[in-house]
Amino acid sequence: MDLPAYVERLRSGAPPKFPADANSLEFAQKLDSQDSLRHLRDEFILPTKASLKKKALDGSIPGEQGIYFVGNSLGAQPKAVREYVNAQLETWASVGVNGHFLDMDQSPLVQWQDMAEDCANKSADLVGASPSEIVYMSTLTVNLHMMMASFYKPDAKRHKVILEWKPFPSDHYAIESQIVWHGLDPAESMIKIEPDSDFLIPTEKVLATIDAHADSTALILLPGIQYWSGQLFDIPRITAYAKERGIVVGWDLAHAAGNVELKLHDWDVDFACWCTYKYINAGPGATGGAFVHERYGKVDFVDNSENPTYRPRLAGWYGGDKRVRFNMANTFVPTPGAAGYQVSNPSALDLASVAAALSIFNKTSMRDLRSKALVLTAYAEHLLDQINAEADAAKPFFKIITPRDPAQRGTQLSVLLREGLLDNIAHALEQNGVMCDKRKPDVLRVAPVPLYSRFEDVWRFMQILRGALGL
Ligand SMILES: Cc1ncc(COP(=O)(O)O)c(C=O)c1O
Repeated sequence: MDLPAYVERLRSGAPPKFPADANSLEFAQKLDSQDSLRHLRDEFILPTKASLKKKALDGSIPGEQGIYFVGNSLGAQPKAVREYVNAQLETWASVGVNGHFLDMDQSPLVQWQDMAEDCANKSADLVGASPSEIVYMSTLTVNLHMMMASFYKPDAKRHKVILEWKPFPSDHYAIESQIVWHGLDPAESMIKIEPDSDFLIPTEKVLATIDAHADSTALILLPGIQYWSGQLFDIPRITAYAKERGIVVGWDLAHAAGNVELKLHDWDVDFACWCTYKYINAGPGATGGAFVHERYGKVDFVDNSENPTYRPRLAGWYGGDKRVRFNMANTFVPTPGAAGYQVSNPSALDLASVAAALSIFNKTSMRDLRSKALVLTAYAEHLLDQINAEADAAKPFFKIITPRDPAQRGTQLSVLLREGLLDNIAHALEQNGVMCDKRKPDVLRVAPVPLYSRFEDVWRFMQILRGALGL
């Protein structure tokens, strides 16, 4: 079977059926040779075995590209980032403050005041929305707060927020502090959905929780993909179900954006936020993204009044319409769409990095990336299962806690190791130029990102893991 046939099987829900020689370099390289996205790896700089040992800068990244399976934490550096950031530095040095309003020839960038809009234009396919529903600003947790400021409107009847039991801590803090800030009691207003004993939260359980609190819930805010287990939630189904019951629906897409196909507009999501430093590869702490459904971006001038009506939000001058922003007037006239939710003048240097990272996505499509990712991750799962089969049946090396169903996961596989194995394995991987993420207690998160990972990398990773396990 060739790569497109594996994609077709996985997309149809059928098991991939890898052959008996799947655990061989030849098989992995055969799949790589059939990969129409393999050229994209050349767009990235991956840490090498030698560069990982560097303690000082010397202007070089010596040796062959390493294996970088940690894009679920911090994506690898696209070569374009240096080019775009350099262009920004040259623009700033050349024209100073005029860079706000000047589109320079022979630059990959637009004028500074349009940088966020340019990034939104580059993101329509990434999140499945019209550019006017997308904004790049601030960072993820700040944006969750900004969105909740506009969308979490508790009253005596509807005051609860439904979340999962152990979201990324920042989400928990953000939700809890919003509730307290409204003068409410988190013990009464936070509804946490517990997973089953396998660490996963079935969709039915989410829907049952919605039902149990339907009349008293103001907002449901879940992760598109759970950072620890790697579970991909059924975003369209949960969104529709909650909305039918009058609940506002927000999603934290930190681990989903740039990883799985999203259709935020069609799914009728109210708002969503994501970071750009994981699967989007814009660099540590880079500017985040947000989606606001078009119906909340409307700006109406009733009877030609100069004071428009619009959805209440926490406002700042950069959310103001460009045509009047520099009039310095006291009347806030928001830019229609998600851009009207901006507050401050964004960092043009930072957005140069985001624009560079997004330019790589524009060389392909989320559909093609997801197709490759489905097979890469299934291949990793297959080789992991083979390793486990070699363990004493009563004492398996690990358990894959990410859903077995490819439709319920992204790129990441979370591997819960037998107690005591993590440090040794992590050491062996790093010694061999392999980066992947350790989460205490005992979880190895393995994310073969399709933009820059090969089937060969998956195979090599498994050989190092085998060595660390004494196989
Ligand atoms: C799911 C999730 N939410 C929130 C955050 C925090 O993001 P930030 O520090 O950009 O606010 C992260 C960071 O990794 C995350 O994974």
